[in-house]
Amino acid sequence: MADLVKDTGTEGEQLKKTIGPVALTALGVGAIIGTGIFVVIGQGAGLAGPGVVLAFVLAGVTCAFSALSYAELAAVVPVSGSAYTFSYATLGELIAFIIGWDLILEYGVSVAAVAVGWGGNINEFLKSAFDFALPDAISKSPSDGGVFNIPAVVVVLGITALLTIGTRESARVNAVMVGVKIVILLFFIAVAFTAFNGSHFEPFAPKGFPGIAAAASTIFFAYIGFDAVTTASEEVKRPARDLPIAIIASLLISTLLYVLVSFTAVGIASTKSLSGSDAPLSTALREGAGIPWAGAVLSLGALIAITSVVLVIMYGQTRIFFAMCRDGLLPRRLATVSPRFGTPAKITVGFGILIAILAALVPLNVIVELTNIGTLFAFVLVNIGVIVLRRTRPDLERPFRVPLVPVVPIIGILLCGYLIFTLPNETKLRFVVWLVVGLIIYFTYSRRHSRLRTGEKAAVPPIEGA
Ligand code: ALA
Repeated sequence: MADLVKDTGTEGEQLKKTIGPVALTALGVGAIIGTGIFVVIGQGAGLAGPGVVLAFVLAGVTCAFSALSYAELAAVVPVSGSAYTFSYATLGELIAFIIGWDLILEYGVSVAAVAVGWGGNINEFLKSAFDFALPDAISKSPSDGGVFNIPAVVVVLGITALLTIGTRESARVNAVMVGVKIVILLFFIAVAFTAFNGSHFEPFAPKGFPGIAAAASTIFFAYIGFDAVTTASEEVKRPARDLPIAIIASLLISTLLYVLVSFTAVGIASTKSLSGSDAPLSTALREGAGIPWAGAVLSLGALIAITSVVLVIMYGQTRIFFAMCRDGLLPRRLATVSPRFGTPAKITVGFGILIAILAALVPLNVIVELTNIGTLFAFVLVNIGVIVLRRTRPDLERPFRVPLVPVVPIIGILLCGYLIFTLPNETKLRFVVWLVVGLIIYFTYSRRHSRLRTGEKAAVPPIEGA
């Protein structure tokens, strides 16, 4: 593996190694559990009915196949930048650029959406606890009947400040938030079991399997984030061992919680009231179980949970962008590490401002599906990367190996392809437009400035024959 990671930049372009296995798993759970289970579950229930529980299983299984591929590549190529760096090493510069560009969609744009979900929950909290709500004008985007979403901006800028100060500090704050969100979801499950009513499960799938599949491709959003641990690779103390552990453990923990939460949520609330709410789990406890204070506790927990998603996903975005700039595919002068904080401060602040503007103006629902298609596409390429690298470099030391290659990655590709297929056509069209814009940038700028073209060694050299 050494020849894949010899050079990760010149001095001033290197990140500090501060993260251990538990903090890394917490980073994964931090990125995963958030707006998906606390907010998007409502959309899923609207599409699938009680069958939303199966949709969570289907999306979780889809992720599991790709998670194995992420685990293998992350251990072989432990360089910041996730699927971007894997594809640079295995599939070449053009594909790497495409995937990096695609990941901006997954990470950057989704943070804005997640922050909007945070804003929705703060209103639910104020409503449940103090019978007061912020006026729409300052808490919703223009297309949702507001003017400017101030809570979403506040959370993004707060997290930007934290990420600029330091990775270790951010990882600590994250670990506390992760503890809180696991306790909150367990609290939900326990309270909901006391009011559980099996008759809510009939009819189980009012729109049949197509409804469940459509819900799976939407609530897939809830699982996004296990891949975010691989954006931290260079800051992990023992990446070859810890990355596979963290990827698989964080996905397992989240899947288990999601299936239990969706099962108990349907057990206490009609899918109609779940789908009609901005904060479905709070609503479920308030209306379904008739316990108003429990709804307030839950929306407070949701706020904390979603804050950690903003933290980790935004962290991931800055590291991917950092890697792309370091390779010269985007302006290289941005890829500097602040001597004072040891973090890529310029990129962090720049993205923070851009995302805050988006969060102020963009509604949640439109962006969820776009984020999903970007992520599913990244998963497809990571699965292909595993197959390619096994052929081109069978000699590499692989601390973690996907079983039964190529069968398992191929199943991963087919499952992701199926979920992409079930997404709405407008989403596919938007995605194609985004890729075309990326290709224009690649051919007019990146190709000429990349370290490969300028004769310098890239952070992750492409593999001969790949
Ligand atoms: N999986 C993350 C969430 O649910 C993106 O908010």
